[in-house]
Amino acid sequence: MSNELVSQFPSDFVWGAATAAFQVEGASREDGRSESVWDRFCATPGKVRNGDTGEIACDFYHRYRDDIGLMRELGIDAFRFSIAWPRILPEGRGRVNQAGLDFYDRLVDELLGNGIAPYATLFHWDTPQCLEDEGGWPERSTVDAFCEYVEAVAARLGDRVGHWITHNEPWVVTWLGYGGGNHAPGRASDAEALATAHHLLLSHGRAVEILRSHSPNAEIGITLNIDHAYPASDDPADVAAARWADGQHNRWFLDPIFRGAYPEDMLERWAAAMPEIHPGDLEAIAVPIDFLGINNYSSPLIGASPVGGRPVVVRRPDAERTDMGWEVVPDGLHDILVRVTRDYAPAAIYVTENGAAYADVRGHDGSVGDPERQAFLRAYIGAAGRAVADGVPLRGYFTWSLLDNFEWPWGYGKRFGLVYVDYPTLERIPKGSFYWYRDLIAAQRERAAAAA
Ligand code: FCB
Repeated sequence: MSNELVSQFPSDFVWGAATAAFQVEGASREDGRSESVWDRFCATPGKVRNGDTGEIACDFYHRYRDDIGLMRELGIDAFRFSIAWPRILPEGRGRVNQAGLDFYDRLVDELLGNGIAPYATLFHWDTPQCLEDEGGWPERSTVDAFCEYVEAVAARLGDRVGHWITHNEPWVVTWLGYGGGNHAPGRASDAEALATAHHLLLSHGRAVEILRSHSPNAEIGITLNIDHAYPASDDPADVAAARWADGQHNRWFLDPIFRGAYPEDMLERWAAAMPEIHPGDLEAIAVPIDFLGINNYSSPLIGASPVGGRPVVVRRPDAERTDMGWEVVPDGLHDILVRVTRDYAPAAIYVTENGAAYADVRGHDGSVGDPERQAFLRAYIGAAGRAVADGVPLRGYFTWSLLDNFEWPWGYGKRFGLVYVDYPTLERIPKGSFYWYRDLIAAQRERAAAAA
């Protein structure tokens, strides 16, 4: 079975697993780290399920060596992690905290020493709270603060990190953090959301230039969460609604990055709420990148709202769902990879996140069987393989996640890991899917060795 699946991928395909700083590190007050918007959000009653916080999380900050041992057992080629901005520039600007950089220095060296390539994300949502207090991402000055941070990280790690991701899922920060309010920092304004999107994109473009100067041989990209928006029917109203959802979710970010322009249809819709765009901004955003990272979990059916206004998600009555309630739609991953390749021709693509939450429990013998997750991964990886056959320049796949971890407003209530984390003791228990993925990677290595 694994053999059939791996035969769909080139022998130098990169298999990896992903995490993010706030979700796994813990040690939230150690070695000079300051408060992030997610610490503040967790401390605000009613925002995060069960009052969960990132104070301990998986304690990856102290246990990363053992966790790299698990990665070795898994056999992954690459590990995607993020760097916590408030560890590096605790005051948001100015003083660089060397103790914060030291942690990532050790992490990168330990990965490299174990033959695992570091894929570092600079921003996975943990803005320093002090910058939010000055206005946060809707303020253009936050772009400059981000550049200071990137400069400090790139100067220290640029000689060893071969793959950089500027931002993770700017859509989420834009629309859930500033447009909707159910993610940190919890604001709800279209104008603030659109200013956030513009400043995230601009800071991406600037960051690429900074990274290039310190890491001239590295590959640099950005990760977007891209979902295929299928119209619920061929009724023109549903088709238009799906186009709107695609514009808001996908094209609003893809078009400026790859074409240097916001999509006209969406600009018309949002004209009254748009931020000021300075001359040269779109050129900066459209700086060439080496790869596009795509995170994909599900692909909704979109319909016109019966009462007018924004498009609505239409449930597929027969779809399987994960513990997040997200529909399992492997073809959506195939279709979005093909579509992005056709419309934007990125030089390379990585699936930087894909995976599923299930309500995993330990059995009487202490083990954790998760056949649903194995079936999910098999189906999605198969869909990625079909995209490769269709000419998509897909270079690697990272499963979300290595470990069960802090799932944002859901706290520790949703388990996405290949490894179960027993939170009271922090014990790690590889799940069935861990061994399944290990065997898949091993089969790929055998094929590559046989072909050499
Ligand atoms: C993505 C996030 C990641 C994780 C998964 C389930 O949107 O990038 O941190 O929470 O969803």
